[in-house]
Amino acid sequence: MSDTVDTGKNCQKCPAFCTAEASIGKFKKSTGAPMCGRFGHVLGKPGLTNTQQAKIQTHFANNCEAYGQPMPDFPVRQQMEVALGDTAALTRAEEGIDAAKQNAVTTCAMCKNFVRDDAVASELGWTTGMCAAKGKLILTNRQVHEARGCRYREFGQVRNTTAGIHLLPVYEEAFNLTSNPIVSYFKSKEHFVEPHEYPTDKPVTDEDRASGIRAWFRVPDPSGSDNETFLPTYDPDFFTPEERGKIPRTNDDEHPELYVDHFGGTYLAAVAWTELDETPALWGEAGTGKTELLRHLAWRMCLPFERINITAQTEVDDLVGKMLFDKEKGTYFSYGRLPLAWEKPCVLCVDEPNVGPPEVWQAIRPLTDNSKQMVIDQNAGERKARNADCYLGFAMNPAWDPKNIGALPVSDADVNRLFHVHIELPPPELEREIIRNRVLLDGWEMDDDRLDMVMKIAEEIRNLIKEGLLSQVSWAIRPQIKVSRALRWFEPVTAYRRAIADFLEPTVADALLDVVRAHAPQ
Ligand SMILES: Nc1ncnc2c1ncn2[C@@H]1O[C@H](COP(=O)(O)OP(=O)(O)OP(=O)(O)O)[C@@H](O)[C@H]1O
Ligand SMILES: [Mg+2]
Repeated sequence: MSDTVDTGKNCQKCPAFCTAEASIGKFKKSTGAPMCGRFGHVLGKPGLTNTQQAKIQTHFANNCEAYGQPMPDFPVRQQMEVALGDTAALTRAEEGIDAAKQNAVTTCAMCKNFVRDDAVASELGWTTGMCAAKGKLILTNRQVHEARGCRYREFGQVRNTTAGIHLLPVYEEAFNLTSNPIVSYFKSKEHFVEPHEYPTDKPVTDEDRASGIRAWFRVPDPSGSDNETFLPTYDPDFFTPEERGKIPRTNDDEHPELYVDHFGGTYLAAVAWTELDETPALWGEAGTGKTELLRHLAWRMCLPFERINITAQTEVDDLVGKMLFDKEKGTYFSYGRLPLAWEKPCVLCVDEPNVGPPEVWQAIRPLTDNSKQMVIDQNAGERKARNADCYLGFAMNPAWDPKNIGALPVSDADVNRLFHVHIELPPPELEREIIRNRVLLDGWEMDDDRLDMVMKIAEEIRNLIKEGLLSQVSWAIRPQIKVSRALRWFEPVTAYRRAIADFLEPTVADALLDVVRAHAPQ
């Protein structure tokens, strides 16, 4: 970017500016974004806010040698450069590609460096394919032209994701790179910083420091609005050794660093906690990552993770506390885990409160009230105020799904008080990444063929479930991980038997194993 930016200059004031519609006339096809009719620069993208779009246009206007000059009759250059290119693709190209593999490519659509149009459209918003080696958007009508003599062309399957492509800074900045979960996941992976080393995104006040806050991290709205909020990261030294032991760490058994926030869960929780003062209730079928989201947030915030599992056997006395007698102390109140966590800085995950007996719900209900007071009836109605840094969240399987045996309907009064988040499955590209990362921990790299197989089988199993042909089970991330890990040791049919089929009624198991056989390598 130039040092002196004249904010008065903007491509929209230049005769060469084409709106998305007008660019069709100029380029025969459209990227769906406004374009520079002279140089072919992409000047925005669908869904960008006016501020973001204006930033891109001010940038190009200030760096343009022909700003304000009359519109040429035809585009001078169709560069459409939006990316710096994928370094892996460039390195391969420099090493030299087999001539036969190069000559076979007569159009970008046959090249392994080409990113499919639908992936670019869904991940970046431009309705066109992209060359990962050259970093250019390539309109369909230009694919043959671009491939002719291209030194990077190499025969192979086109890419189904833009992952790993670095956008030019002007686009990166404008997009904030948060609007697409796939893109933002790969970016954060690339710029990984340990939470306890994260430099702050806004000033830390003396008051913050006094309450243990070491830094703040920005949490932008993943849906691309300009909204953002902040979550604190605590200083692990602020805690006692026992509390510190409960702070999730990178490489712990649960690997909180590998959690992929594909639905903007961090933003939702951050808004609920810090802006609205509400309690997030995470809903979803088994194994969709409800509990792990809260652990991941504790990891990012460097806070102890207090998880309280509620079961049908949970008694209020265990949860809240009870009167005890000791010869020396006499009668005294021994606090349960809930009030102890309530008074400390922590992420407090109350797991499956809707399977507990009604008294347990009643004990929990006031915690979600505006007053955020815990009333301990067992100790003469003692009131405990919540610690300002105790972040409460619930994780639950919904009672409307008959698979969730034991889950009870939640009363209107409770539904009213909660901030509801239903967790769906991640986009396939991220589901693959979750699986790939998990089996890597076993020291095994899962090849694309096997991943394709697991994803195709999952699609069919999920259809069987939707159609009611497989009614007792769900097929979210946990079973996908389970079966993938087993695939290292067993043939597909055996792996799916161990993961699920041997539990099922024989005819249902057969239907499922037929699906597996249809996709397993022969
Ligand atoms: N988004 C994700 N990123 C990485 N791993 C995930 C993700 N979602 C789920 N998993 C993995 O799937 C498994 C199940 O996740 P988790 O225990 O959080 O599910 P849950 O929704 O709480 O399920 P349940 O309803 O059975 O309690 C974990 O091993 C977790 O690591
Ligand atoms: Mg759970």
